[in-house]
Amino acid sequence: MEQVSKQASLTEPRKNSSKKGEVIMKLENVSRYFGSVVALKNITFEVKRGFVTCLLGDNGAGKSTLIKILSGVHQPSEGQLWINGSLTVLKSPRDALDYGMATVFQDLALVPLMSIQRNFFMGRELRKGKIFKTLDFKKSDEIVKTEMQRVGIHIRNTQQAVGTLSGGERQCLAISRALFFGKNVIIFDEPTAALGVRQSKIVLDFIIQARDSNIGIIFITHNSYHAHEVGDFFTILNRGRNIGHYAKQDITREKLLDLMAGKHLTL
Ligand SMILES: Nc1ncnc2c1ncn2[C@@H]1O[C@H](COP(=O)(O)OP(=O)(O)OP(=O)(O)O)[C@@H](O)[C@H]1O
Ligand SMILES: [Mg+2]
Repeated sequence: MEQVSKQASLTEPRKNSSKKGEVIMKLENVSRYFGSVVALKNITFEVKRGFVTCLLGDNGAGKSTLIKILSGVHQPSEGQLWINGSLTVLKSPRDALDYGMATVFQDLALVPLMSIQRNFFMGRELRKGKIFKTLDFKKSDEIVKTEMQRVGIHIRNTQQAVGTLSGGERQCLAISRALFFGKNVIIFDEPTAALGVRQSKIVLDFIIQARDSNIGIIFITHNSYHAHEVGDFFTILNRGRNIGHYAKQDITREKLLDLMAGKHLTL
């Protein structure tokens, strides 16, 4: 599998005509408990169209739990989820995909023994035929090749098992899947953690490109440079609590880093 140049990978962004800045998703006073563990307490959080909101905090702060609630993996123990202004319950990740929300999970949520193509569509396979519907392998093959090319990876055989891909290539597969299905919101949970400098730059460029296509982005990272480079808003969690929300012009990278490390600041 060879990598292609970034320039070649950038195809046309998908434009979304909805209004920039509108709130697509909102958590209101959400708490989530796992037995006696308080993963989130009383969190209010918004995703705005056309902006990157960074979700920051130390290990165990509750970041993944929050985005799993937005992705339909977990349900809140208390509090509400609003989507496009309506009170909503997401019972499964499939429900979230139906709203055009896609997530690149920290663990990537890929099945190593299954093919690249099956992992890409996972539950949303393309079918053809009117009465006896069968899987449309040819069309699926074309889409996977094109979408992977967009993130800089050239695939020759989409039937290859995901287990044979490198860590960076798997990351790119998870990202290209999210870019394809995330028409309204894309959530990135530490997408650059396993990547080298060049691939990280490609991912950051894709976050910017998706934002400019008027999609709402949530970006989780432990890298303050990456956060400050692409973030418009920053929400900082500490032991399940929201300890601050800032617009980019109101916070320097150094202060952001202090907050991420758990220091409480008076700005
Ligand atoms: N399924 C679960 N069962 C029990 N406890 C859980 C579960 N998921 C998360 N937790 C706990 O909730 C807390 C928050 O975890 P979470 O994974 O949301 O943190 P995080 O901010 O994503 O951390 P990291 O930066 O290490 O990925 C932790 O104490 C974790 O152990
Ligand atoms: Mg996490």
